[in-house]
Amino acid sequence: MRHDILNADKILPVDTLPLEVAVVVPTLNEAANVEKLIEKLSVVLAGRGWEVVFVDDNSPDGTSELVRRIGRGSRHVRIVQRVGRRGLSSAVVEGILATAAPVVAVMDGDLQHSEDALPRLIDAIAGGADIAVGTRYVAGGGIGEWDQDRARMSRLATRAGQIALGTDVSDPMSGFFAVRRDAFERALPRLSAIGFKILIDILASSPAPLKVAEIPYQFRTREAGESKIGARVIAEYAELIADKTIGRFVPVRLLKFLMVGGLGVFVHLAVLRTILGTGSAFVTAQTSAVITAIAFNFFLNNSFTYADRKLKGWRLVGGLASFYAISALGAVANIGIGTWMAGHDERWWVAGVAGVLVGAIWNFAMSSALTWRK
Ligand code: GDD
Ligand code: MN
Repeated sequence: MRHDILNADKILPVDTLPLEVAVVVPTLNEAANVEKLIEKLSVVLAGRGWEVVFVDDNSPDGTSELVRRIGRGSRHVRIVQRVGRRGLSSAVVEGILATAAPVVAVMDGDLQHSEDALPRLIDAIAGGADIAVGTRYVAGGGIGEWDQDRARMSRLATRAGQIALGTDVSDPMSGFFAVRRDAFERALPRLSAIGFKILIDILASSPAPLKVAEIPYQFRTREAGESKIGARVIAEYAELIADKTIGRFVPVRLLKFLMVGGLGVFVHLAVLRTILGTGSAFVTAQTSAVITAIAFNFFLNNSFTYADRKLKGWRLVGGLASFYAISALGAVANIGIGTWMAGHDERWWVAGVAGVLVGAIWNFAMSSALTWRK
């Protein structure tokens, strides 16, 4: 590694090689791994104009500060520190946008992606590919020491991704790849950037099919730090697939909202039946059922549909109040439209469904603008 040479009268450039490739590394608590990774990168990338951009979500273990310390000694090392943000995919997008390099490689910060494959990924781009994917699922590649369950889960998710997106890339779940900047930029406006899987997102968002090269590599076992995979990562993967398929026609958030509303109907009926069972008048039972179902919908929307704008504390109370008000108006719209339709169409259920849909869309639009406003 060469360092800045600062003379009294002239400043020599850090590196006379033009910037050829940037390695973007998303990190969350990887302080135990970054130094080793940088060492490995400087070995395999020697002779090229390179930099590494860590995109760290303000890791409590001090990853950002550590990278900055190393960065003071080497212009190859850069950091983008994000505060109050989360997400592997969005971190990668911001890292790519933060570098000027014409080719960008993406790689995990935990040493599980074998850096030996990195030069081959980069050279495949020079050889004419738009994107070069490090794959575990062709001859020469492998998943290392994953247990049976994790291996099965990965295969299943891979298959689901391939079918949903109509791609035959052998490892669309890979987080290890290189891409030509212009190919990335063409996909950029349509990226979902949800969750963990940025490669699949780029492949599906590209306006024209990308020329893909596949480079086998051996996935290594993580030695330090912890994997971030969990229920949330799986849910975000499902959401990404939904966004990339039906999401083109209907916003995924609206679908989630309607699903919650559908569950609300069951809650309503359960409460109605229970209270009627105690011998109460219908109007009392129905009123209690409405109040309960709206609250149920509110809390479920708050942690599922609007997980990214989740209300807490006093704002939760205010949110619930506004959701009640909006839902009350939604019910008025529902009844109004339904009644009007019933006067124009013989079929009772058409009128009923029309009322419900208008009410639901009203509730969605208003609560998204007011209750869960950005
Ligand atoms: N900035 C940021 N923000 N980085 C994150 C976040 C986040 O919310 N979550 C995870 N990371 C970083 C981790 O620090 C690590 O460097 C990398 O992303 C991968 O996270 P792991 O938790 O180690 O994931 P994994 O080992 O289960 O899965 C990985 O391997 C797959 C197989 O190649 C992922 O990288 C997948 O993308 C990859 O396909
Ligand atoms: Mn990992």
